[in-house]
Amino acid sequence: MSLPSTHEAAARPLTLSEQADELEERMMHELDERIATKSVLFTLADGKVEMESGAALMAKNPGKLFLMGADPRLPKMPDKPQLIDFFRQRFASTNHLLQSATHALKAGHNEKVVLACLLHDIGVVGFIRCDHGYWGAQLIEPYVDEEVSWAIRVHQALRFFPDEAAGYAYPDLYRKYFGDDYQPEPYIVEEYKRARNHKHYMTARLICVNDIYSFDPNAKVNLDDFVDIIGRNFKQPKEGLGFDNTPSSHMWRTLMWPTRFL
Ligand SMILES: [Fe+2]
Ligand SMILES: [Fe+2]
Repeated sequence: MSLPSTHEAAARPLTLSEQADELEERMMHELDERIATKSVLFTLADGKVEMESGAALMAKNPGKLFLMGADPRLPKMPDKPQLIDFFRQRFASTNHLLQSATHALKAGHNEKVVLACLLHDIGVVGFIRCDHGYWGAQLIEPYVDEEVSWAIRVHQALRFFPDEAAGYAYPDLYRKYFGDDYQPEPYIVEEYKRARNHKHYMTARLICVNDIYSFDPNAKVNLDDFVDIIGRNFKQPKEGLGFDNTPSSHMWRTLMWPTRFL
């Protein structure tokens, strides 16, 4: 759809769809001077093993340079981003996390369990589904008690194994999603066996217990309710996540700048 003429636009407020068009046009203009690149992972997800060379992209976009910073199409991140900024500007959906954490809070669990529930699927909502427990744990490992990151790592495996005594049955949803005959891979089975005897087993199990009941479209949840728990249990670096030289700083930077050329 084309934008209304300046004269026409001045005469009446823009409709929502015109506002959206205007925003899109402004962002395309901001991106106009730069080429945003798609990494191989994004094309793999489209079922293609390929990448465009720098030279080919330059030839296609004469006179332009590659984007080497923030992508203007994405929500702007502050200079020193904190966990909350990623929740608000990068995580595609936070309702499931907030519901899970709210459930744990209401059940009277300690703050480590609540934080583990709040962060258990940040791998999914911010990064990638495959092995999301491992990715999520790696992201937060430098900033939380090892009980929290360990629990998030192994919830990946524990999800597939019931523990009726702890109140966790194999999810019906998994039968629906993966079929009755789905069997987890051997590395998941081994992870489960190791986790079963670990001192933090129950923390990981409680992620599963609070996870399964947490899909309620009508529940009222709010990130503000968890700001204090995050403040007490997540070591927010003063330089901002991504600029603090930890083993996962580069992962936060990649979430911030997913289309940088290098
Ligand atoms: Fe999960
Ligand atoms: Fe979950």
